[in-house]
Amino acid sequence: MKNFISAHDVPDIDGLVKSALAYKADPFKDKSLGANKRIGMLFLNPSMRTRLSTQIAAQNLGAEPIVFNVDKEGWALEFEEEAIMSGNKVEHVKDAAPIMGNYFDILCIRTFPSLKNKEEDYSELYINQFIKYSGIPVVSLESGTLHPLQSLTDIITINEVLGKAPARKPKIVLTWAPHVKALPQAVANSFSQWVTAWGKADFVITHPEDYELDPKFTPGATITHNQDEALKDADFVYVKNWSTYNDYGKIYTNDPEWMLTSEKLKATNNAKVMHCLPVRRNVELSDEILDGPNSIVTQEASNRVWAAQAVLADLLRGTSK
Ligand code: CP
Repeated sequence: MKNFISAHDVPDIDGLVKSALAYKADPFKDKSLGANKRIGMLFLNPSMRTRLSTQIAAQNLGAEPIVFNVDKEGWALEFEEEAIMSGNKVEHVKDAAPIMGNYFDILCIRTFPSLKNKEEDYSELYINQFIKYSGIPVVSLESGTLHPLQSLTDIITINEVLGKAPARKPKIVLTWAPHVKALPQAVANSFSQWVTAWGKADFVITHPEDYELDPKFTPGATITHNQDEALKDADFVYVKNWSTYNDYGKIYTNDPEWMLTSEKLKATNNAKVMHCLPVRRNVELSDEILDGPNSIVTQEASNRVWAAQAVLADLLRGTSK
């Protein structure tokens, strides 16, 4: 891999899952792979799981992670080419990124979308400018449209639950859930992209009308507005809110009927319930599910370490600075 931005950067998803599970079994087996290597972690937005798990992963490999909260501690960055910087942006990414390329061996970046300008968000301007100007491998810690470390973790967790030789293809359902804020489509886009690229599941997406995702992320998925129908015989239910894509960044409905409950779960094949976290309890997902036996959200979030470790190890093997 040159960068880790989307499922398309990964030539062998099963190989990466296998590598992650091998790190879970033996976290320090490559403890010298990252010796004398520095991993820059830039946050333009908040994080708990992504930040901590990637730091732990880097340390397990013997590399030194350095966190920089750009949103709170850095200069405001300009990303547009040929910008006349007479506003509140202090430094151009063209000047900052090459310096980071010299300081670090791998650069990891979290940069959320504005949800105001669809063209800009979906062009992935911010992360692409870091790729263009840093000259080192770039890892997405969640970008405008995708969250690949989360999705890799999700595939790892599904594999773990299924075991080595599943009797049949699992049915995986991604269901929209209510939320009080307009949230990015990144986790839903990314989960869809990874499940379809992985290709080992029957994949159904269910959401209210007018919440269609960008079709480029959902090839081959069955899409329905009927949540009850979608949930029938599901083995995994992935719960996530997202704001509208077509009329970009809006909340059209907050219908509590879309919240997953134990009653609704009865239609499934005793499905495991997943969520990337953080979760708004009793808005997105009920207490009874989150605290019940079907929830695997803690296992899922804990697996973030092994996903990050597999990705960083792959990129470290390719670095030769
Ligand atoms: N799931 C996830 O990315 O969590 P954080 O936002 O806390 O990193």
